[in-house]
Amino acid sequence: MSTRPRPAEGAATQRRPLSIPSLFALKEAGTPIAMITAYDFPSALAAEEAGVDIVLVGDSGAMTVLGYESTVPVSVDEMLTLTKAVRRGLKTPVLVGDLPFGSYESSDELAVQTAMRFVKEGGVDAVKLEGGSNVPLARAKAILAAGIPVMGHVGLTPQTAVALGGFKAQGRTAESARRVAAEARALQNAGCFSVVFEAVPNELTEALMPLMDSTVVIGIGAGPATDGQVLVLQDLAGMGSGGKAKFVKRFAELHDPLVDALRSYATEVREKQYPAPEHCYSMPAAEREKLDLSNL
Ligand code: KIV
Repeated sequence: MSTRPRPAEGAATQRRPLSIPSLFALKEAGTPIAMITAYDFPSALAAEEAGVDIVLVGDSGAMTVLGYESTVPVSVDEMLTLTKAVRRGLKTPVLVGDLPFGSYESSDELAVQTAMRFVKEGGVDAVKLEGGSNVPLARAKAILAAGIPVMGHVGLTPQTAVALGGFKAQGRTAESARRVAAEARALQNAGCFSVVFEAVPNELTEALMPLMDSTVVIGIGAGPATDGQVLVLQDLAGMGSGGKAKFVKRFAELHDPLVDALRSYATEVREKQYPAPEHCYSMPAAEREKLDLSNL
C-alpha cells in the first residue's frame, strides 16, 4: 500500500493540542467552534490537517461506515475499533467518543465501565451520551464523578428517535421546548463540559443560550446562536447515501467522483490499460538472466 505522512510529519500540525479549557476560552472569546465526526484514520488525518477543534467518533458511524439501518445495533467493540483508528490520526483536536445505545443506560456501574473503556482503549478525551432526562442525567453524573469529561446531547437524540416520533425536529411547541431546555440545563448543572443541541428551532436556541454560560453548546440543526457547529463527515463531504436532513450543507460532493474513479479503474483493468509501464517495477537485466524458476 502507499504511504502518507503521519500527523506528526504533516505540514499543518504545528498548532498546540486543544483541551477542554481551550474550548471554554473559544466560547469566552466568541470564537465559533468547529466539530466534525470521523470514523477512520484517513478522515482523522484530514480533520487534523483542516484544523477542526473537536472530533466526535459518533455512533452515526453505525450508519455511515458500518451500514446499519440505525445507530441502535452498534456495539462498544465496534465503536472502539473506529475510535482507535481515529485516535491514531489525531494530534490536536479534542477527541470525543460516543457511547452507543445499551452501553450506559442500565446502571451507573455499566456507564462508568463503558466510559473507562473509551478512555483507556480508545484514547478519547471525553465521552458523549444522549438525553438529559433522569436516567441519562444520572449516568452523566456517575461518569463525571469518575473523572471523565462528558458531552451531553439533547433535542433529537437518534438512539431514542422511535420514542421521539422519528427523526424530526424537537422543541417546536412550548411544552417540548421547555423539556429540551430543562434537559440542557440539567446536563450543564451536572458539570457536562459541552452539550449538543440537535434539530431544535433557532428560537429555542436563542432563548436558551443565555442560560448556558458554563458549558460549550454545539449545534447541529440548532441555528447559528450556539458556541459551535457539528456535522457528520459523510454529510458535509457528500459521501453519504440516503436522504439529507434540512440542516446539512454539502461542502463537497465526493460520492460521484469516487464512483467515477472506481468505474474508470474497472474499465482500465478489463481493457488491460492498467497497469501501464510507469506503474511497474523492473529487474536489472543481469538479474533476469540469472533467474531460474525451474525445479521450484
Ligand atoms: O453520532 C453522531 O454523529 C452525533 C452527532 C450528530 C452529534 O451524535
